[in-house]
Amino acid sequence: MVTVMKHIIICASRYGSARRYAERLSEQTGISVADYREAPSLTDSACIIYFGSLYAGGVLGMKKTFRHLTLRPEQKLVIVTVGLADPNIPENRENIRHSLEKQLPADLYEEAAIFHLRGAMDYQKLSPAHRTMMALLCRSLRSKPSEEWSAEDRALMETYGKQVDFVDFDSLKPILENIQEAGT
Ligand SMILES: Cc1cc2nc3c(=O)[nH]c(=O)nc-3n(C[C@H](O)[C@H](O)[C@H](O)COP(=O)(O)O)c2cc1C
Repeated sequence: MVTVMKHIIICASRYGSARRYAERLSEQTGISVADYREAPSLTDSACIIYFGSLYAGGVLGMKKTFRHLTLRPEQKLVIVTVGLADPNIPENRENIRHSLEKQLPADLYEEAAIFHLRGAMDYQKLSPAHRTMMALLCRSLRSKPSEEWSAEDRALMETYGKQVDFVDFDSLKPILENIQEAGT
């Protein structure tokens, strides 16, 4: 019997911006999207594309999803983070990479193709716990001189309390190219 290896897009999104990216890529590629909470089986997937939003530096659901995964030579892993901080700023990218390195097994971190996209946030829609976290973060930043804020801190303060949407589907292009290069 011949085993046909499928591809899978996994989506870990709390408020929908990572999901919007995942669904657009699904439309572009015909690869179906699974929610990370369904714990989809990854053993039969030739290409695993994970979209996860950033919460306090960590990627939602990623640690649990990849805990037991060992990639076979014919498998490919693509990780896409979605956050509020601008990934075009090198300092922000470095921070995200640093925390990914801590959350992923070393072999997966080495082998994965990693991309960073910008998401959205609407303070009106945040859960009470998230709203409190952001308020505490904002208060602690206000107590520091602004010259000491990181690029991420500045993005947080500039958008605090507002509704912002930086989702840009054009930023999916390098991801699409990467998947197609692999013959997906
Ligand atoms: C409590 C909280 C913590 C967050 N932490 C980060 C962070 O560390 N880095 C970042 O870039 N964005 C952070 N964000 C912003 C989210 O990553 C951003 O809104 C993202 O688009 C949410 O994705 P989702 O709509 O798919 O849930 C945070 C948002 C909240 C509410």
